[in-house]
Amino acid sequence: MLLPNENNYISTIPAIGDTPIRRCDFLSNIYKTNILIKEEFHNPGMSSKDRPALFMIQDAIQRQRIQSGGTFVEASSGNTGLGVTMIARRLGYKAKIFVSKSCSQEKINKLEEAGASIEICDNSNGLQDFQSTQFRAQSFAAKEENAFFTNQYYNTQNIRAHYKTTGPEIWEQTSNKITHFLCGVGTGGTISGVGRFLKEQREDIHIWGIEPKGSILQHYLAHRTAPENIQPFEAIEGIGRNFVPGSFDPQPIDHIFQVGKEPSKRAALWYYQNTDIQCGFSSAAVLASLHKYSHIMQFNPEDQVLLFFPDHGSRYISKLYSKPVDEEVINAINIDG
Ligand SMILES: Cc1ncc(COP(=O)(O)O)c(C=O)c1O
Repeated sequence: MLLPNENNYISTIPAIGDTPIRRCDFLSNIYKTNILIKEEFHNPGMSSKDRPALFMIQDAIQRQRIQSGGTFVEASSGNTGLGVTMIARRLGYKAKIFVSKSCSQEKINKLEEAGASIEICDNSNGLQDFQSTQFRAQSFAAKEENAFFTNQYYNTQNIRAHYKTTGPEIWEQTSNKITHFLCGVGTGGTISGVGRFLKEQREDIHIWGIEPKGSILQHYLAHRTAPENIQPFEAIEGIGRNFVPGSFDPQPIDHIFQVGKEPSKRAALWYYQNTDIQCGFSSAAVLASLHKYSHIMQFNPEDQVLLFFPDHGSRYISKLYSKPVDEEVINAINIDG
């Protein structure tokens, strides 16, 4: 049996983390500051979610919550599911992933290729909805023998993975000069973990989240309570919530900006046409937020503004990049809304 000590993990699992940060000259020229991009699509599962997947699995094995050959279960918009599947299979476990029907076909194909057993659910509206990915994953794990629900929405290892790895990496790679951190918010694990680490190093850093229009975390951050009227939010894969996950820690976060789905799609195309880089959907939402709120963000030329790109556009060809080149989009930013 594989012993859950660090050496075994290092030799058995492809290296996770230590992803590059690159300065984007195109955006830096437009916003007249230094725009840096943390390219998380260099992780083996091609997303930042490999990090929490590893921490959650490692923790469950170490605490003997699952025995050899058992099944790891996760509710995921696809990326965490892929990380969990890849790591679980490498270590001799099975993976059962509950995705919502809005998950891109590309991610479902990848999950299948990685060896996951997949269930498609109506929504990811949280444990109180019987048809949600979270409820169905939890029910499955409770009934199945030797199964463990990693539960990224409430597992403290989600925040811890980013506090222990992503945050320190960013601090070191920017030579302690980062002034702003912008990232999309889904479970909240990334912004909570990275935000907490960076604020401990430098109190005046700006930690800004991005979510789709209609999501409730902006309201929650400002009022510490959910809004009375919860409406469906605009669907941008990986980000946005209509409940407050346990992995969302408001403490280090300064503000959450909201952007629309259509402006985010236009931002993805605009960025692609000007840089040849296909970014993921939630990364495009971060780009749309820069455009929409740069008058509020007010960067200085010497600032070091880091945009967190959790995954890659190859996961969203059908949703973002199937349209032919549109000269209007290339020439004018034209992503208002
Ligand atoms: C593509 C993408 N972007 C952003 C996020 C949000 O990250 P977090 O869950 O850490 O808030 C996720 C989460 O699954 C994601 O898959």
